[in-house]
Amino acid sequence: MIIKNICCIGAGYVGGPTMAVIAQKCPEIDVTVVDINKERIDAWNDEDVENIPIYEPGLSAVVKEARGRNLFFSTDVDAAIDKADMIFISVNTPTKTYGIGKGMAADLKFIELCARQIARVAKNDKIVVEKSTLPVRTAEALKNILDNTGNGVNYQILSNPEFLAEGTAVDDLMNPDRVLIGGDIDTEEGKQAVEALVDIYAHWVSRERLLTTNVWSSELSKLTANAFLAQRVSSINAMSELCEKTGADVNEVAKAVGMDSRIGPKFLKSSVGFGGSCFQKDILNLVYISKSFGLNEVADYWEQVILMNDHQKRRFAAKIVQTLFNTVSGKKIALLGWAFKKDTNDTRESAAIYVADYLLNEQAEVMVYDPKVKTEQIYADLDYLNTRSSEENRARVKVVNTPYEATKDSHAVAVLTEWDEFIALDWKKIYEEMLKPAFLFDGRRLLERKTKEEIGFEFYAIGS
Ligand code: NAD
Ligand code: UGA
Repeated sequence: MIIKNICCIGAGYVGGPTMAVIAQKCPEIDVTVVDINKERIDAWNDEDVENIPIYEPGLSAVVKEARGRNLFFSTDVDAAIDKADMIFISVNTPTKTYGIGKGMAADLKFIELCARQIARVAKNDKIVVEKSTLPVRTAEALKNILDNTGNGVNYQILSNPEFLAEGTAVDDLMNPDRVLIGGDIDTEEGKQAVEALVDIYAHWVSRERLLTTNVWSSELSKLTANAFLAQRVSSINAMSELCEKTGADVNEVAKAVGMDSRIGPKFLKSSVGFGGSCFQKDILNLVYISKSFGLNEVADYWEQVILMNDHQKRRFAAKIVQTLFNTVSGKKIALLGWAFKKDTNDTRESAAIYVADYLLNEQAEVMVYDPKVKTEQIYADLDYLNTRSSEENRARVKVVNTPYEATKDSHAVAVLTEWDEFIALDWKKIYEEMLKPAFLFDGRRLLERKTKEEIGFEFYAIGS
């Protein structure tokens, strides 16, 4: 089976970068990324490649090379489905905000809409690839819709979850630890479909890193991987609180523990709490699935990862209030960083949102600086919480273009994203322009304590 045309539904953080890399590595395949969001597609097509809608190191160069050659962005979803041999579904699967499973289950309405659209449009056999992160056994539902509402054509459903992390997406796609492909490996047609996708990745990924499994293992492995990663962060964050009480230092503990080759050093960086669009959503989904099978102990075990993370965010914000003599009312607090991690403009579930909300509830005036996040996004994130009116958010939160504007005349500065540029700021100037005592809270263990204390800061860092 030779694939000549690929369609990807969903031009977001996964669809865009993933397809850009496939197009770059497979110049003989036409790749069309489609989305119902016209603004997003227009941005992907922007003449100036630096204006593409997603900031990822190295991405604009990849898009520049392939766009117009064999990489296309369009809002004509029907046309791209019709032409494609293989269709990736890469739409969002957020936590449900209504009805059964509200606040826990994954909302699969966007996935179902895609399936119905494919079924309506397709006139020849297609391979449909689940790229979105989905509850285990979603492929069954997809197949059901495609087979029962379609035009009598044959579908093979593959699961090919994405493991890229934002901020390192291009690198992760170019050099993946593994590529996971789940398919109906018990049938000849299923095996052929799996092979067709293996052949695409084999353009640049060595065969031993291409892992094939049955569909259910593939779907569940993705949720499991995110749960394990998030669990490590919650584990080290739990220890950070104990470190603060005992005189141990969480970085030293993480190093000592991580040097055990059975544990390993990655994902042991204590922080103000993990954010991002997926860890929380995927664990909640796992908890929901476990509960739906009556596995309450399994559900409770994983839910604790989220509870610990919520605690960490709240604890950091509370520490600021407590340290500033138990009140921040009317005080100016500067937040450095709004993105959920460095090197991305994504703010979904960022700890900064919750810290800001907590401080606003305590009547603080909040100043925000982030090198990549747009002002409107910051207000939208706060408005989404619905804690206060959008007018009040705009009146009490100021978003500025330089870190020094944020920190000038402030009572306290909090580092919430580990942007490299924060390390090299003129901390002496910041200190001089702040009210005294000048409090500095490092939620990322980014800054060196000694030099900051020498300048005169009252310095607090997570886990020490
Ligand atoms: P996203 O919100 O950035 O992008 C999804 C896009 O799909 C949106 O632009 C939306 O307009 C579009 N869309 C929704 N329904 C559509 C339809 N019917 N037709 C056409 N377009 C439609 O989401 P994302 O971050 O790219 O995540 C997509 C999936 O990948 C999720 O399931 C997520 O869990 C998973 N994932 C995300 C990451 C990540 O780093 N963001 C990593 C691995 C996996
Ligand atoms: C994560 C996974 O790492 C990806 O493999 C997965 O594909 C993706 O979720 C997904 O399914 O969406 P991402 O959320 O983009 O990727 O970024 P991470 O690097 O995992 O960071 C997540 C959060 O954890 C960030 O807020 C980060 O600051 C925090 N973190 C991470 C820590 O606090 N400490 C660490 O040691 C590592």
